[in-house]
Amino acid sequence: MSHVLAIDQGTTSSRAILFDGSLKIVASAQEEFAQHFPQSGWVEHDPQDLWSTTAGTCRAAIERAGLGPEAVAAVGITNQRETTVVWDRDTGQPVYNAIVWQDRRTAAFCARLREQGHEAMITERTGLLLDPYFSGTKLAWILDTVDGVRDRAEAGKLAFGTVDSYLIWRLTGGKAHVTDATNACRTMLYNIRRQGWDQEVCRLLNIPMSMLPEIRDSAAEFGMTRPDLFGREVPILGVAGDQQAATVGQAVFRPGMLKSTYGTGCFALLNTGDTPVPSQNRLLTTVAYQLDGKPTYALEGSIFIAGAVVQWLRDGLKIIREAAETQPLAERADRGQELYLVPAFTGLGAPYWDADCRGAIYGLTRSSGPAELARAALESVAFQTRDLWEAMQADWGAGGEAVLRVDGGMSASDWTMQFLADMLGAPVDRPEVLETTALGAAWLAGMKAGLYPGQEEFARGWALERRFEPAMDDAERARRYAGWKDAVARTLTRSA
Ligand code: G3P
Repeated sequence: MSHVLAIDQGTTSSRAILFDGSLKIVASAQEEFAQHFPQSGWVEHDPQDLWSTTAGTCRAAIERAGLGPEAVAAVGITNQRETTVVWDRDTGQPVYNAIVWQDRRTAAFCARLREQGHEAMITERTGLLLDPYFSGTKLAWILDTVDGVRDRAEAGKLAFGTVDSYLIWRLTGGKAHVTDATNACRTMLYNIRRQGWDQEVCRLLNIPMSMLPEIRDSAAEFGMTRPDLFGREVPILGVAGDQQAATVGQAVFRPGMLKSTYGTGCFALLNTGDTPVPSQNRLLTTVAYQLDGKPTYALEGSIFIAGAVVQWLRDGLKIIREAAETQPLAERADRGQELYLVPAFTGLGAPYWDADCRGAIYGLTRSSGPAELARAALESVAFQTRDLWEAMQADWGAGGEAVLRVDGGMSASDWTMQFLADMLGAPVDRPEVLETTALGAAWLAGMKAGLYPGQEEFARGWALERRFEPAMDDAERARRYAGWKDAVARTLTRSA
């Protein structure tokens, strides 16, 4: 019993990564699954796909490592957050597809609640803004729209969960209906100060509280897996939403430290310690992790499109065949042209929160081509991170450490990370292990199992691969950022 299996159930694929006793990756498996877009702005997953790709990749990773079931000491789960599933407690059947975090179908409902003056109460209790991004209004939509669901929910027959809860339910054969604090705090139903489901918010959204899972620490006993899955029962001992797991994996444990993960979107979290700091700059207040009943809070900036802009260059514009071609293409761009690409494909998240605006490109000339577009796409990721950085500095003051730890697919691009350091005017640190999300989930579970060291020793193991120092002069930095701000101002449907 010397290994930990980390499940990373993400937005476009499920992965299973097996770590050995010294937290080294020994095998992994990954499987993509279908995205469903039933209407403009709607995004759904089939819960059965989430489960079958998870179970399949777990089996494949264990097989690839050539290990027997007795080798796995514990399972850790990390997952796409906010995505909403409702299922029948008796049959396990979902009543509707999973409504994905990117889905905007409840924008009008959120606007109505905002007009009725409920946003301040919701923000004060949940730390979030009234936006369709979070699970609460998605769950209300299922209850109000799908035939017969409300009656069954009120009769106690249905369960709600974010993806972690749903997977635990399936892994334990319906024995456990649980979640952890980092996932609970993304539902817009969780009171981050009182650390429990919030009655008043549930009443406002008309959600029966009997549907909600039990909330645990991020390292806790979540249940035992069905014996037929891994050949014997294995305890699930770690759970955290993917951005929080990356925060843990990056050892962002001291107040003032921050990390930014570049996946489909980009999510920056600033550790604020044991205080939930309210944002004056439209960031979210969230739980970074919860250990021994004690929450550590963070300010979060959520950008919906980061790596997805590269996907758009590949699949939409077809100017590259694979993501790795973007950097060399961008390097060939004519430096005399300054294009600004605002990737508001599904509106803009932090700090603008404009669900209705759509993407735009400014500064096109007759000689603008694929190279200039590729550069503008990569630069947009750095400009958006600068927006979050500014908001965080304003909320947290000078107490923060002026270094950004990065991870996720796009952080592998040296060009992008250098431009990011130039735009922030601060160093950008890239760790040796870029699999920080899975690492965080594995450490939570393995630490609980007694296999891995405690927090301090784990943090000492964080190793720098490369530091990017800012090389741009201040005037140039200010000029380029002003160009971005102007492009955003012209794109928003309402003033920022
Ligand atoms: O909040 C959404 C986030 O958890 C999704 O992350 O990496 O699956 O795009 P990812």
